[in-house]
Amino acid sequence: MFQLFYVSVSTLSDADAHSEIEKIVNGSIIYNAAQGITGALIFARGHFAQALEGDEGRVDTLMEAIVRDARHRRVTVVERSQIAQPRFAPWSMAYDGSASYIGGPIESLLKATGREKLENIRRIYSLMDELTAS
Ligand SMILES: Cc1cc2nc3c(=O)[nH]c(=O)nc-3n(C[C@H](O)[C@H](O)[C@H](O)COP(=O)(O)O)c2cc1C
Repeated sequence: MFQLFYVSVSTLSDADAHSEIEKIVNGSIIYNAAQGITGALIFARGHFAQALEGDEGRVDTLMEAIVRDARHRRVTVVERSQIAQPRFAPWSMAYDGSASYIGGPIESLLKATGREKLENIRRIYSLMDELTAS
């Protein structure tokens, strides 16, 4: 099982963000479930962080569409890894747009390296884990 994690910068206006993200999440739940992909999406202070897990080829095919999506830019893949167990199953796409404190760590992952990068990844995963724990 393969897992990919990226961060990006939203291009959505404040007026459009809510309805556009609702469309993204609703579409993702259907597509991801059909592909056996699970994951979590966070939107905070104009930034996205998303983890996707499943078959590597299927996740990469989805990523090609996501990278082309004009609703965000600077899509930066932060981590690609092989994992023993899916972390987010059964959530085909868990979503949280309320944790604005995580905006800082997401933004810094667009450029961070080394120790700081690992710490920020850990903080975002920990929020995603809380999201899918219940
Ligand atoms: C931040 C972000 C995350 C997205 N995540 C997913 C996802 O997990 N699954 C999905 O099917 N589409 C996701 N999308 C939407 C895709 O980019 C794309 O619109 C969708 O796959 C339909 O592609 P198509 O219009 O080329 O058919 C996401 C878009 C954005 C901006």
